[in-house]
Amino acid sequence: MSVLFFKRFLQRPFQIASIVPSSKALVERVAEKIDFDCARVIAEYGPGEGVHSREIARRMRPDAKLLLFELDAALSRDLQRQFAGDPRVLVCNADAFTLPDELARRRIAPCDYIVSGIPFSILEINKKRDLLQKTHQALHPGGSFIIYQVTNELKQHATFFDETESEYFLQNIPPMFITVFHKANTRNGGEHPARNGAVPLAAPTTS
Ligand SMILES: C[S@@+](CC[C@H](N)C(=O)[O-])C[C@H]1O[C@@H](n2cnc3c(N)ncnc32)[C@H](O)[C@@H]1O
Repeated sequence: MSVLFFKRFLQRPFQIASIVPSSKALVERVAEKIDFDCARVIAEYGPGEGVHSREIARRMRPDAKLLLFELDAALSRDLQRQFAGDPRVLVCNADAFTLPDELARRRIAPCDYIVSGIPFSILEINKKRDLLQKTHQALHPGGSFIIYQVTNELKQHATFFDETESEYFLQNIPPMFITVFHKANTRNGGEHPARNGAVPLAAPTTS
């Protein structure tokens, strides 16, 4: 168990919302939902101590980008340290709500995938809908939003996504629903945007 993660849970139980990081089995299952050959821009909400981030970074293309949004300052600092040698990974000690602004500010193309580990179910209803809206906005057409949660209640709020797949995954404590929300690709007949090289990253920036 990550000592830092547990300490942060004791400090902010509602924000961290779990005493242990995701299991290896859950991490692998979530990673299997991502087509790493195509993914150029991936964002993660609530990476915590980085158990999913490390697996995503391990599998992703050399020219891909991974943006990590972690609210907790101590966990963010630890993520900065872990990924200091990997220029593909950007750690933002910021709320997941800021993803569209960060993409615009850094001139990065919309995301192919957004993975979320934040406790959505305890967000107040308007915040939940607002974050879902921002997530939809930050995805490229054809992109997917992947969330793992104890409940599957988000499905009823994420009605503007075009397709949803869900599974109940038992190999984690506690068991989790893994749900993938797809945003339709209206531009190229349903193909994933990165599959035909249609989503290059914008010019690199200095920040
Ligand atoms: C349940 S932990 C998940 C940690 C990790 N993803 C895992 O699977 O082990 C939730 C994490 O989300 C972070 N978090 C909660 N709300 C957030 C928000 N609005 N934006 C960014 N991070 C948030 C918490 O600080 C915590 O690190």
